[in-house]
Amino acid sequence: MSSPKTVRWGILATGGIASTFTKDLLCDPTTRGVKHLKHTVVAAASSSSESRAKEFLKEVGAPSDAKAYGSYDAFVKNPDIDIVYIATPHSHHYQNAMLCLEASKNVLCEKAFTVNAAQARKLAEVAKSKKLFLMEAVWTRYFPLSVYVREQITSGRIGPITRVISDNSMALDPEKSFPDGKHRMVNPDLAGGALLDLGIYALTWVFQTMYHTQPEDSRQPPKLQAFVKNYEPTGQADEQSTMILQFPRSQEQGGDAHAVATTSLRVATAPGGNMNQPFVRIQGPKGEIQVFGHAFRPLSTKIIDQGGKVESKDFPIPGPGKGSGWYNGFGGSLQSEGEGHGMFWEADEAADAIINGRKEGRYLGLDESILIMEVMDEVRKQGGLKYPEKIETLDYPTQL
Ligand SMILES: NC(=O)c1ccc[n+]([C@@H]2O[C@H](COP(=O)([O-])OP(=O)(O)OC[C@H]3O[C@@H](n4cnc5c(N)ncnc54)[C@H](OP(=O)(O)O)[C@@H]3O)[C@@H](O)[C@H]2O)c1
Repeated sequence: MSSPKTVRWGILATGGIASTFTKDLLCDPTTRGVKHLKHTVVAAASSSSESRAKEFLKEVGAPSDAKAYGSYDAFVKNPDIDIVYIATPHSHHYQNAMLCLEASKNVLCEKAFTVNAAQARKLAEVAKSKKLFLMEAVWTRYFPLSVYVREQITSGRIGPITRVISDNSMALDPEKSFPDGKHRMVNPDLAGGALLDLGIYALTWVFQTMYHTQPEDSRQPPKLQAFVKNYEPTGQADEQSTMILQFPRSQEQGGDAHAVATTSLRVATAPGGNMNQPFVRIQGPKGEIQVFGHAFRPLSTKIIDQGGKVESKDFPIPGPGKGSGWYNGFGGSLQSEGEGHGMFWEADEAADAIINGRKEGRYLGLDESILIMEVMDEVRKQGGLKYPEKIETLDYPTQL
């Protein structure tokens, strides 16, 4: 077998998820059975200072010769970077991704891809014209659990899906947790609110089960009815959004299908950390697939057939294992020793695409990312939620 090819990453931003992603990225791929590629980190940039970027590189265990930058502009000029991972707040994704694409860098950009569909469309257009790889970092799509669930659907195990119910909500107690309203979860200047941060995962399950599993030539955009509850302390950010979707399908495909996707910063899918209820329910005439564990980091499934027989399956997240002394995690919760967070699978997909010349992710292409942004635009339109023009704009460069 030929030796593994190494893909060289640059990390743009040094916050919470940048750190978690990069630690996963640097986890030996053979621990998850991936032998044909490797990842390395050659640079990281902080918008605040070079010293912060240095500290970040140390924190994540990057190679000692990785370069630290105190500005994103200087960082994208580094000729050794094959692909940039963008982990700024969503308000900044359009400007940051454009900066990278203009510098001829491939891009993996955190969710929500952009603030609106027009920005996503523009990025896709630039990436295509420059023949660069571009993918929204919806890591969940690349989990073996997600691959398994999609396979169960396409094999007809539960019949044509009739309904999906999907929630991604966290009782964050926003007034207490974000008292000055500046945090990205509630700050309109940073495209705050539940929808773009958490709701995207509720929609991810709806789309990856109901839309992505249909033949490309026949799948159609859904109709939408949405309700948005505003977070009053900051005015222009949703504390809760509820979406009802109808996916048109031919009679042979089972006819129209429905979905309910919900998200909230006020109440939780797992109240008090009780993980015993399904976070996603995928229902068909022959049975139901239930997904357990947060919609963004699912860990097990149950398939219940019409006779009541239950088949359970666990999908533990690999890593260097017990005794390694290595820990990863996000948002104040560490995984157990040696267990990855699960972000390496999307990184493997991006690296594999670069090695093989693909320009999009296989399980979430640009058209689908754009369509989901269109749905979220429509949710905001129906709910009267508008962000400041400077983060909705297509003008590049715009100083944020
Ligand atoms: N996939 C997931 O599971 C997951 C989880 C959480 C978040 N996310 C996504 O990742 C993105 C970042 O989230 P996060 O939780 O990592 O946020 P965070 O901890 O607040 O970090 C964001 C980073 O962006 C940079 N930044 C640049 N301009 C900024 C500005 N004006 N305000 C704040 N930060 C600014 C900062 O790093 P430097 O200035 O040092 O570069 C900051 O540390 C969001 O789009 C979010 O939706 C994804």
